[in-house]
Amino acid sequence: DQTNLAYSVGVTLDRFIKLKQSDFPFASGELSQLLRDIALAAKIVNRETNRAGLSNIGGAFGQTNVQGEEQQKLDVIANIRFMRALSKGGEVCAIVSEEEDEVIDLQNNSGKYVVAIDPLDGSSNIDVNISIGTIFSIYRRKTPVGSPVTTEDVMQPGNQQVAAGYVLYGSSTMLVYTTGCGTNGFTYEASLGEFFLSHPSIQAPKDGLIYSINEGLEYEWQTGIKNYVRACKERKFQSRYIGSLVADFHRNLLKGGIYLYPSTLKNPNGKLRLLYEANALAFLIEQAGGKASDGGGRILDIQPESLHQRTPLFIGSSAMVEEAEQFINIPE
Ligand code: AHG
Ligand code: MN
Ligand code: MN
Ligand code: MN
Repeated sequence: DQTNLAYSVGVTLDRFIKLKQSDFPFASGELSQLLRDIALAAKIVNRETNRAGLSNIGGAFGQTNVQGEEQQKLDVIANIRFMRALSKGGEVCAIVSEEEDEVIDLQNNSGKYVVAIDPLDGSSNIDVNISIGTIFSIYRRKTPVGSPVTTEDVMQPGNQQVAAGYVLYGSSTMLVYTTGCGTNGFTYEASLGEFFLSHPSIQAPKDGLIYSINEGLEYEWQTGIKNYVRACKERKFQSRYIGSLVADFHRNLLKGGIYLYPSTLKNPNGKLRLLYEANALAFLIEQAGGKASDGGGRILDIQPESLHQRTPLFIGSSAMVEEAEQFINIPE
């Protein structure tokens, strides 16, 4: 039947999306088109990424974004590519991007969807040929189609996502996404220009042996985090930290592990952004049987209050996230 066919390894992304449309009996096909638009932009960014060293698109762009980070040229290029894909398609009414200070209202009131995006994740790894990514969240607008976009449409908690995913520009390029019926991974075959299903119905191992955290910040952590990481070391867990959230997340998703970005003295709410980093990965990990927490509760239940708001993030294998939460919640 259709579902079995969809899950056969080697099916193209386009066909998978089409076959899976039957998961949404009342769907009009717009979400499917939106996912295809994102996949196309991902192919273009993949091409830019692969030849970055040759085409003078490495290095700093010369401006800072709203969070005071120095933008890299590829941050700006990826932002332009995704903005274009999302605005030309007609399905989207508003976009939140790491590289844009304010909400981008596309003045397309007939668009049903709001997208939040980190166009290029892992900026510091661009110039040293280490894996980078793109992260996206898709919401259905709350106000009626045809009316102007409001903050209510944009400030939705992660549990309202209708789809989310990431692209990993790594040793191979992959697109991993969910529409709330499991998490599926596709590998890009550059010579054919197609994504093919390579990782159907991903299940995150319940437990793992890998912990991923920027240990250089240890002196800035709270006691609970220090104790948790010490407990990892006592059990001789493996320490793995790439510094591209997408790549660290992807490894732990497949192998079992936990990624931690806690509050620090410099960043009391952690570094990662709720709307276009944490929420998408939280949706994906839950759909794969894992967990995502801010230390106090589920990432997906946080009501956002501002566009670029940050959150502590503990994400990965369920048993590891639960244990980390216990350490965090022991009173100091
Ligand atoms: P971005 O490149 O989109 O700004 O994201 C940077 C994030 C994330 O990719 C990574 O995991 C984290 O910053 C690394 O931060 P530290 O260098 O503080 O460890
Ligand atoms: Mn950045
Ligand atoms: Mn990022
Ligand atoms: Mn980014």
